[in-house]
Amino acid sequence: MKSTIVLLGPPGSGKGTQGEKLSDEFGYVRLSTGDMLREAVRNGTELGKKAKSYMDAGGLVPNDIIIGLMKEKIAACNGKVLLDGFPRTVEQADALAEQLDVDLALNLDVADEELISRLTNRRSCPDCNAVYHLVTKKPKKDGVCDKCGAQLYQRDDDKEATVKNRLEVYRKNTMPLIDYYQKKGTLVTIMGVGSIDEIYEKVRKAVQRISMRGGPPPRPLPLCQTSRSIPSTRCWPYPNLYLSPLFRVIQ
Ligand code: AP5
Repeated sequence: MKSTIVLLGPPGSGKGTQGEKLSDEFGYVRLSTGDMLREAVRNGTELGKKAKSYMDAGGLVPNDIIIGLMKEKIAACNGKVLLDGFPRTVEQADALAEQLDVDLALNLDVADEELISRLTNRRSCPDCNAVYHLVTKKPKKDGVCDKCGAQLYQRDDDKEATVKNRLEVYRKNTMPLIDYYQKKGTLVTIMGVGSIDEIYEKVRKAVQRISMRGGPPPRPLPLCQTSRSIPSTRCWPYPNLYLSPLFRVIQ
């Protein structure tokens, strides 16, 4: 079955952490633009050389580079795709919409103070891209990746000054996508506060609802008529996601 999920949310909101769990459980192919770009920088490829200065400053890599890269990667996937870090601008979202339909845009909402603490305490694996946290998700052995044994490192863009710039860039360029997907009727916002497992429970419920697609159309609900921003054709496959305000923001 084809299915596309977009993970939205500010830097450090847990897109990578939750995305990894989702792809393990539901078999989505996770495409993380951040991981791809960091690998390109490490390998000194043309893409890496072009991207490095933008990433180091906490800015966005230009749209044409990212759109070209993702078009190819997405074309190579023919099933369940989980997009982590793409799209990040309206222009990228429009380019994606030309290629495929997004079934669910999952927005992780976390306050700035918590984001800064998460990012400055994050440690990452350069080889398998696993992510740890010095307090909430420690590796079994200090500084060593549980999964592949590589030495963990702190990303250059996880220093506090760069993190603050990334948050600004997010607000200016990426936050408008919340409205973009809200208007398309595919947005679910999850409050990304609590333990990783507690948040994952909410994430998986949202994803389980999109797997209901293809089942028998449920009874129409009265709320259907009240939700004007949501096209009525979207109502039947995802009743709880789109029709009931209670389910559109999962606390
Ligand atoms: P990218 O790598 O995508 O960075 P990001 O979006 O800023 O996201 P992060 O990876 O920093 O955070 P996350 O939300 O995945 O959080 P995580 O799960 O790791 O992009 C890097 C750069 O590449 C960009 O700045 C840009 O330059 C460029 N780029 C990428 N895509 C682009 C695009 N489309 N267009 C243009 N440029 C692009 O969690 C963070 C930490 O918190 C971890 O330590 C984790 O263990 C911990 N944590 C997670 N959940 C919890 C929890 N519930 N409680 C406590 N700790 C938690």
